[in-house]
Amino acid sequence: SDPIRVGLLGLGTVGQGVVRVLQRNAEEIARRAGRPIVISRASARDPNKARDCDLSQVAIEADPMRVVTADDVDLVVELIGGETPAFVLIGEAIRRGKPVVTANKALVAERGNELFELARGAGTMIAYEAAVAGGIPIIKSIREGLAANRVLSVVGIINGTCNYILTQMSLRGIDFGTALTEAQQLGYAEADPTFDVEGVDAAHKLTILASIAFGIPLAFERVACEGIARIQSQDIELAKALGYRIKHLGVAKRGMDGVELRVQPTLIADDQLLAKVDGVLNAIVVHGDAVGRTGYYGRGAGGEATASAVIADLVDAVRSLDTPPQHRVPYLAFQPDAIAPMEVLPL
Ligand code: NDP
Ligand code: HSE
Repeated sequence: SDPIRVGLLGLGTVGQGVVRVLQRNAEEIARRAGRPIVISRASARDPNKARDCDLSQVAIEADPMRVVTADDVDLVVELIGGETPAFVLIGEAIRRGKPVVTANKALVAERGNELFELARGAGTMIAYEAAVAGGIPIIKSIREGLAANRVLSVVGIINGTCNYILTQMSLRGIDFGTALTEAQQLGYAEADPTFDVEGVDAAHKLTILASIAFGIPLAFERVACEGIARIQSQDIELAKALGYRIKHLGVAKRGMDGVELRVQPTLIADDQLLAKVDGVLNAIVVHGDAVGRTGYYGRGAGGEATASAVIADLVDAVRSLDTPPQHRVPYLAFQPDAIAPMEVLPL
């Protein structure tokens, strides 16, 4: 059947990873999607910059809106990041009935309620698996794999940059600044790395996880947020001497009165599972009332790991084009007109 033509906004770490993986695994991906997927157009601030992928068959634009509005683009993948211009670009794609895949946790956490409402109205979808924990399929796992459960808690290491920094400080004894520079060079950090080290990126991800796990609206402003910028080498050494590791955790817990959301550095005893998760790896433990505790572990950042999640969403989105809306995978756990959502506790 006819190929689906993708418009790719952003050719940075993740964008280039998507191009490489889509080309390398084209046959398997086409089989799973039911149709070949090709990138017809892409955009970057500098369209002439050399990229680590083959773009010989792709028209490259400087203006991302030209990609969104092009007739030869059926579906839009947003990998620019941040609120501006991503919000407007995604909004335009939705208005045109083009499904959207994004890895943009900042945008989903802070403007997702509006975007999802827009997408519902337009009968199209926004998928965002890559927005949380890089390549780990955590959103699908909670939404589909744990659909039978009342989720009691979601606890995890959900920022690869923080975990990379804490691990390198602990294992190699390097300082905070050197470890952050390495994380940036490896493509793990956000364009503004204060989002990582101040805990904001983890708070964005926790907001999204909590929405899926507890069926609540996105409530970023209710996350109590503390990062790792004040952690020093001696804190790590002292923790080690006492038999603990310092990890940056996201915690979402169901209580009697509502859901509690926080991200913070935490002491974890050496023999605990999360204490052994090192480097860019992420790990999330989801506690469901029926299944008990389940764990999810893998690369939380990086080009091809994140591309894995982006392309999984692309496969769903391609299938959705041939599926009536009521039979599509729901991208939104919270249905505004369904049951009364749980209260999210104020800070
Ligand atoms: P990069 O900074 O590497 O790439 C961003 C891309 O967008 C670049 O190609 C850049 O162009 C283009 N761009 C930036 N600003 C604009 C603008 N104002 N208008 C048009 N184009 C623009 O980011 P990443 O690939 O690392 O991240 C992309 C998204 O994926 C973000 O939302 C991020 O949070 C998310 N994410 C990233 C992960 C990672 O490991 N890096 C993991 C999971 C999610 P040019 O190249 O010419 O500068
Ligand atoms: N900056 C993010 C991190 C990218 O380090 O986890 C993955 O979302």
